[in-house]
Amino acid sequence: MKLLLLCLGLTLVCAQEGNSGVVRSNFDIPEITGEWFSILLASDDREKIENGSMRFFVEYISLLENSSLFIKMHTKVNGVCTELPLTCDSTGEDGVYTVSYDGENKFRILQVNYSQHIIFYLENFSDSFKLLELYAREPDTSPELKNEFVEICQKYGVVKENVIDLTKVDRCLQARRNGVA
Ligand SMILES: *[C@@H]1O[C@H](CO)[C@@H](O)[C@H](O)[C@H]1NC(C)=O
Ligand SMILES: *[C@@H]1O[C@H](CO)[C@@H](O)[C@H](O)[C@H]1NC(C)=O
Ligand SMILES: *[C@@H]1O[C@H](CO)[C@@H](O)[C@H](O)[C@H]1NC(C)=O
Ligand SMILES: *[C@@H]1O[C@H](CO)[C@@H](O)[C@H](O)[C@H]1NC(C)=O
Repeated sequence: MKLLLLCLGLTLVCAQEGNSGVVRSNFDIPEITGEWFSILLASDDREKIENGSMRFFVEYISLLENSSLFIKMHTKVNGVCTELPLTCDSTGEDGVYTVSYDGENKFRILQVNYSQHIIFYLENFSDSFKLLELYAREPDTSPELKNEFVEICQKYGVVKENVIDLTKVDRCLQARRNGVA
């Protein structure tokens, strides 16, 4: 009987771990729409996120009728928060989009928990620098999730020194639609 209970217990633990709500394929795109906050930003080319064109902060994602995504971003131009609207066309491939911004870029969803966080991986077609982004539904997230993101970055060849914690800088939150701060 004890053994049976132990087995049952282990099964439950395992089932829970296997079903933590993180999706890595067959994305339900309407579920990724809505408000997000940029949490971590990483690149093998640190300049691009330190003070370059790729230092941007998400506000929300919406889904257009033609399956493209509209992503409202903010970026700083000469220190001033500026809106950066991006239209990202679907490639037809699961979670993969293209966006014309400072060149032709392609990005994919690596993983998402629709109610909590999403991780994107972007590669510039030609000079192929890498960019990884962690967004969350709340302005900040758990250290565990941040650590997991750093590990994912390392898998994609981005060292942890090149991961920037945007929760510690001005993310242009005051510039958002309804003034969420
Ligand atoms: C997201 O993660 C939370 C906490 O791990 C979990 O309770 C929830 O079910 C997940 N959400 C979805 C939509 O899977
Ligand atoms: C970013 O670059 C601009 C122009 O090159 C420079 O004026 C500014 O001081 C830089 N800011 C930071 C934080 O490095
Ligand atoms: C989808 O619609 C948006 C908004 O009308 C447009 O900017 C974009 O070019 C369209 N994309 C495709 C692939 O038709
Ligand atoms: C991305 O590649 C294009 C060429 O398609 C290049 O002109 C552009 O500078 C690159 N963008 C960045 C941010 O490096």
